[in-house]
Amino acid sequence: MADKDDVRLGKHFFEDIPSKNEAFFLKGAGALDWGMQNRLSRIFNPETGKTVMLAFDHGYFQGPTTGIERLDLNIAPLIPYSDVLMCTRGALRSSISPTVCKPIVLRASAGQSILSELSNELIAIDIQDAIRLDASALAAQVYIGAEYEHKSIGNVTKLIDMGSKYGIPTLAVTGVGEKMSRDQRYFGLATRICAEIGAHYVKSYYFEPGFEKVVAACPVPIVIAGGKKLPEKKALEMAYKAIDQGAAGVDMGRNIFQSDCPVGMIQAVGAVVHNSVKPDKAIKIYEEIKVQEKT
Ligand code: R5P
Repeated sequence: MADKDDVRLGKHFFEDIPSKNEAFFLKGAGALDWGMQNRLSRIFNPETGKTVMLAFDHGYFQGPTTGIERLDLNIAPLIPYSDVLMCTRGALRSSISPTVCKPIVLRASAGQSILSELSNELIAIDIQDAIRLDASALAAQVYIGAEYEHKSIGNVTKLIDMGSKYGIPTLAVTGVGEKMSRDQRYFGLATRICAEIGAHYVKSYYFEPGFEKVVAACPVPIVIAGGKKLPEKKALEMAYKAIDQGAAGVDMGRNIFQSDCPVGMIQAVGAVVHNSVKPDKAIKIYEEIKVQEKT
């Protein structure tokens, strides 16, 4: 109960210590509100400025994808080693324990399937539900050069506006159609458009040459998707090169959950992302954990 007893005059004001006014650690996020910066600090480790997002939202357009046929069984062992869970609200409510305290990046679009035109998406969540789920960010695709380019830009723009009202950042995902070439010109265009419409960070694919130029020209952080399954060493090399060339982390799915040792792979990826461990060393982390699992 508030009372007026024992009200004393303050004594310790440390007048000789100036108040700190530190710059926020994340590229392009210095002018954001406290809530936005706090949510981005859940996603990106403030010590390293990087993130390992575990992506398992693939089912929203491709159904029971190899490696995540059983979300409840496949994802749980990986959670302790991920920084962020990226998934649909359906996966979250049905298959992830509410006792898990990892930040959630919510897949906020849907409306198509692998049997139809992929760029024909719509916003598939309202902001109240994202708040109920305590989302740390919303995510949807921008399909530059695709049939529904205009609509997809509109979706992400609306998410940015909706999220901004409540301090929830938006991740714009560069969706690449089959006809688009995965090169500097394309990703330079796509990532810059995402940042200019107000996305707080952007997901791209890694490509060579010129990835570092695309990172430099994008005023907000870029994280890379893993893409299709590669041999583990190749996936670690890709992650290493991306981080070395300025990526702020990975949003990786298939190269983790389709590995023959997902728990080893996610830890190896984490070592690359947060500690710049070289692929030769990182592959040993994966191999050692794989051996331990078998014994
Ligand atoms: C597409 O289904 C999603 O945006 C995925 O989250 C994204 O492609 C990352 O997953 P992967 O590493 O499997 O490409």
